[in-house]
Amino acid sequence: MKKILVIYYTQSGQIKDILNAVLKNAELNSVDIDYLKIEPEQDYPFPWQPSSTFYDVFPESVKSIDIPIKALNVNNSEQYDLVILGLQVWYLSPSVPISSFLKSEDAKNIFKNKPVMTVYGTRNMWVSANKVVKNLIKKAGGNLVGNIVLSDKHHNLISVITIVRWLINGKKEASKYFPEAGVSSSDIKSASKFGNPIFNSVKETNFSNLQNELLRLNAVHIDYHIMKTELTGIRIFHIWANLILKKGKNNPKRRKRLLTLFSYYLFFVIYVVSPFASLIFRIIKLILPKKVKKELIQHTSL
Ligand SMILES: Cc1cc2nc3c(=O)[nH]c(=O)nc-3n(C[C@H](O)[C@H](O)[C@H](O)COP(=O)(O)O)c2cc1C
Repeated sequence: MKKILVIYYTQSGQIKDILNAVLKNAELNSVDIDYLKIEPEQDYPFPWQPSSTFYDVFPESVKSIDIPIKALNVNNSEQYDLVILGLQVWYLSPSVPISSFLKSEDAKNIFKNKPVMTVYGTRNMWVSANKVVKNLIKKAGGNLVGNIVLSDKHHNLISVITIVRWLINGKKEASKYFPEAGVSSSDIKSASKFGNPIFNSVKETNFSNLQNELLRLNAVHIDYHIMKTELTGIRIFHIWANLILKKGKNNPKRRKRLLTLFSYYLFFVIYVVSPFASLIFRIIKLILPKKVKKELIQHTSL
């Protein structure tokens, strides 16, 4: 029997729901699945209360600064034909538990010479995080063979409101004026369509065409103007993160003040700057379709 190892971290359970949907037909395909959850020694609050905890994780996320995580007990990782990593993005970067795992000895032991797939459950900005993740998987010795990204398809300015309401106030459901937060239930349900190419590749031990088949099923959703906005944003995030880490070192009060300033900056950029930036990137898309297509292909490929 073929075997898949699924390693994931989740706070709300969203990425686990996505993974369950993707792998729903495993038994029908005679594929065995083992799930392992990454557990930080000291986990983050969910919902993020007090709300300052939500901003406090910003510098460490952007700079991929490790936290201690519990050892994953994997007996004989050789037995697995594929490893799937279920992950999420924090501040345009892999979440801290995920980057901590990817740099661990466990990751090296599990990933060494193994085909690895990534499955994201995000709001809508995952491209910069994916660059870091691809690099860390490679460093751990894994061979990336596939990627699925499920994101919130509502308008960028709407999904900011709903995600903050969800992550900080714990309210995921739709309200009178706003839709449900996160990846839509229908997108999660229909993720089972991605199972077939995965199971076929596992059965044939041939992953060479997996990503092409996943892309044919629209496994990766990407909007040019969102991608360009985030690629600009991550450069500025690094400047903020460096500043907060440097000035806030050994000075918790100053760190807190800088994080509050950063939170104002974040909402200013999202609601004042990003609509203009989006407009410019939409115009570029109209004028230079070939260039845009090339960039999109570059970021959706493995
Ligand atoms: C601190 C924090 C920052 C986040 N930043 C981003 C982001 O930059 N881009 C994005 O698409 N989603 C972002 N999200 C949403 C997550 O990627 C994810 O969709 C959500 O937290 C649910 O994940 P879960 O499976 O851990 O519950 C962020 C979430 C948190 C908690």
